[in-house]
Amino acid sequence: MITIKFEAVTQSFYGRTIFQDINAELRSGTITAVTGQNGSGKSTLLKLAAHFMLPAAGRVSVVEDARELRRAELRTRLAMVTPELRFYPRLTARENLAFLLGLRGIELTEIKFQVLLARVGLRDQAVATTVTGEFSTGMRQRLKLAALLAAEADIWLLDEPGANLDAVGRELVLREARQAADEGRLVLWATNDEREEAAADAAIHLAGH
Ligand SMILES: Nc1ncnc2c1ncn2[C@@H]1O[C@H](COP(=O)(O)OP(=O)(O)OP(=O)(O)O)[C@@H](O)[C@H]1O
Ligand SMILES: [Mg+2]
Repeated sequence: MITIKFEAVTQSFYGRTIFQDINAELRSGTITAVTGQNGSGKSTLLKLAAHFMLPAAGRVSVVEDARELRRAELRTRLAMVTPELRFYPRLTARENLAFLLGLRGIELTEIKFQVLLARVGLRDQAVATTVTGEFSTGMRQRLKLAALLAAEADIWLLDEPGANLDAVGRELVLREARQAADEGRLVLWATNDEREEAAADAAIHLAGH
């Protein structure tokens, strides 16, 4: 059982407060949505959860069975989908995935690759021969989901994972997130979509300033 704890967390940049006094406890097996207007700090909250940055005040901790996971260990346990993630544009989907998974010590076999493509709805496209720089935006988003699924991480930090996806793609994200939670993973999901918010078990709303 993994828990992410936000205790009286305040974040500010250059003296400007983005959000303050956030208290929340997120648990494995659940989906928590973080909502709020543009610039309210959703992506920042995910980065704090990942320990990519420190809060200005308060404490963010990730605890597994009463033992706190430190930064380095946390890296190996979480997977993140963010708008910032970029693939190498001159490499194919397979090459990009093989590289990303290689960093985690996971081998991408041909069968695993084919199963992943089918799971994210990329199988029928000419993905085998196309470099990712020539992918459509939605295809690239689906490839990010493939990387997420393949990482087998216990913590999923999803920053607007439905962005640029069609209705089928958004449905896919909802289904996979629910399945992940049912498998015992912890899902934290930044979104502005009402349906995605409604599909979550809990929500953190950032009011904005
Ligand atoms: N590293 C940083 N340095 C300085 N300011 C930052 C940094 N990261 C975020 N900010 C600021 O913090 C605020 C919140 O940004 P954040 O990206 O978390 O918002 P968001 O809720 O994810 O917005 P959106 O819905 O547009 O994705 C913004 O005003 C942004 O400019
Ligand atoms: Mg954001």
